Amino acid sequence: MKFFIFFPILLVASEPLNILVYSPVFGGSHSKFMGNIADTLTEAGHNVTFLVSVADVTRRHEIGVKLTKNVIIVDKPNFSQDDVEIDMDEVLRPLWTIQNRPSDFATCFEFFIQMMQTTCAEFTSNREIFKKLSKTEFHVAIAEPVSICGLGYFDALGIKKTILASSTTHYEGVVRNSGEPVDMSYVPVHGAYFDEKMDIFQRYTNWASEHVLAGNLERMFDQEMSEYRKNLVQSTGHWRDLIPSASLMFTNSNPYLDFPRPVLQKTVGIGGITVDMEQIKSEKLPEKINKLLEKREYNMLISFGSMVKSSTMPEKWRNSILSAIRNFPNVTFIWKYESDDLRWAENVENVHFLKWIPQTALLNNPRVSAFLTHGGLGSTNELAFIGKPSIIVPIFGDQGRNAPMLARHGGALVLQKFDLENAEVLIDFIGKIVFDKSYAKNAKTLANLLNASPFSPKELVVKNTEFVGNFGPLTQMDPYIRKLNWFQRTFADIYLILFLVYASIIVIPIYVIRKVFRLIL
Ligand SMILES: *[C@@H]1O[C@H](CO)[C@@H](O)[C@H](O)[C@H]1NC(C)=O
Ligand SMILES: *[C@@H]1O[C@H](CO)[C@@H](O)[C@H](O)[C@H]1NC(C)=O
Ligand SMILES: *[C@@H]1O[C@H](CO)[C@@H](O)[C@H](O)[C@H]1NC(C)=O
Repeated sequence: MKFFIFFPILLVASEPLNILVYSPVFGGSHSKFMGNIADTLTEAGHNVTFLVSVADVTRRHEIGVKLTKNVIIVDKPNFSQDDVEIDMDEVLRPLWTIQNRPSDFATCFEFFIQMMQTTCAEFTSNREIFKKLSKTEFHVAIAEPVSICGLGYFDALGIKKTILASSTTHYEGVVRNSGEPVDMSYVPVHGAYFDEKMDIFQRYTNWASEHVLAGNLERMFDQEMSEYRKNLVQSTGHWRDLIPSASLMFTNSNPYLDFPRPVLQKTVGIGGITVDMEQIKSEKLPEKINKLLEKREYNMLISFGSMVKSSTMPEKWRNSILSAIRNFPNVTFIWKYESDDLRWAENVENVHFLKWIPQTALLNNPRVSAFLTHGGLGSTNELAFIGKPSIIVPIFGDQGRNAPMLARHGGALVLQKFDLENAEVLIDFIGKIVFDKSYAKNAKTLANLLNASPFSPKELVVKNTEFVGNFGPLTQMDPYIRKLNWFQRTFADIYLILFLVYASIIVIPIYVIRKVFRLIL
């Protein structure tokens, strides 16, 4: 037995794999997530090709990769400079005040479905790039199921080992089509604005939202499929088969942070992959900002992200934030604000407006006490891993579920956006988050736990992708329940039979007894 002690544990590095990652450009956080996966695999020594279609030309510069060198961008064929002139700020302004009702999600979807269908049509009609890619044997291909075009493309290229990667929590339309339990009774879906302890109205909203969200995604997949079949190969797989044929599903959800939910074994939460703590610790603040932080004992950061801009916020809300700021003379507020017109904030000394902020460097700075944010998943993960207390004001999309997801760990407070009208509420929240030390303590505890996870998000991506590349496709992980109908899946058939059996046990004797009694009497 002693003999074995002398053998080192063999770490057999995998042969470099050819990996194709498809990522349409339409939103910074989606691109960043897919770019991080690609870069992580590049870092591990694989030959990654990052294939990008341009859905939103105004975001063409944000494709998401830093290390990966093989980048193929498929531009719009009839792209003209005029397209860049679209004022996206004005297009997105209504999101500030959109309600969180299932019917509103349907409205939001229309624009998105149109954009994705057009992009798929343009992307798949580029024969040159398709031909070029078909010369390489790709061992694994990865796409986000927020569009099905990538999976269709992979199938047409003959790639059988695929991985889905969601830059948010699971997409409802993917959950129900992969054989995963539809879990709207466990967790708030995308677009919910509450946590998992739902009252009956919230449970209805959650249920209805699942139908709207999944139904729309399925409708979009149908439209994209007709494009990829028309432009690539008519016999390309149906999306209902391509989704479950994926060997694994990465989601931007972290099991120690997100609400607990039932998942298939092929679902791997890699939430936190976009937060590179090593990199963040090495970041230096510009001198100007350093000086700003020295001015007062406390500092608070305000940013609503890059999608909906602070400068397009309803005036009433903006003014109420300002009057809350006035109430805290010993706190310096640094506000990411995108306009030069600051007349509305004249004579308020303790607020500074910056068009761009080094967000992670600031969050990691001990002089910054707290953060007021919209709760995009990127910022939420940063807050969780860095461990800074926060007030989260969800504006739209998955932010309404990200906020309570973080708040349930005790380091954050959730403020519903319509309450921004009320400066008193905001003053109460800021007072708590800046001066009550328990939030900072809880936030740190969570951060310590997340950073000590048994498997880092990067490790999970590399090891799982290599495993699929070497041994996939993992068809044995595809559950048989997908082939059952509704009666079988829910046991309704059994309940029905049992009901008939019990009914006959009770009803038949009564019938017989009555008959007999009638005969006798
Ligand atoms: C790496 O991938 C590219 C496709 O982007 C391919 O042309 C090239 O041959 C691959 N390199 C190796 C060593 O397989
Ligand atoms: C691009 O423009 C040409 C001519 O203006 C047109 O024939 C073609 O269909 C357009 N392509 C797409 C994908 O819209
Ligand atoms: C800062 O302001 C808060 C609330 O206005 C107050 O409770 C606290 O004592 C002040 N701290 C200092 C150091 O002045």
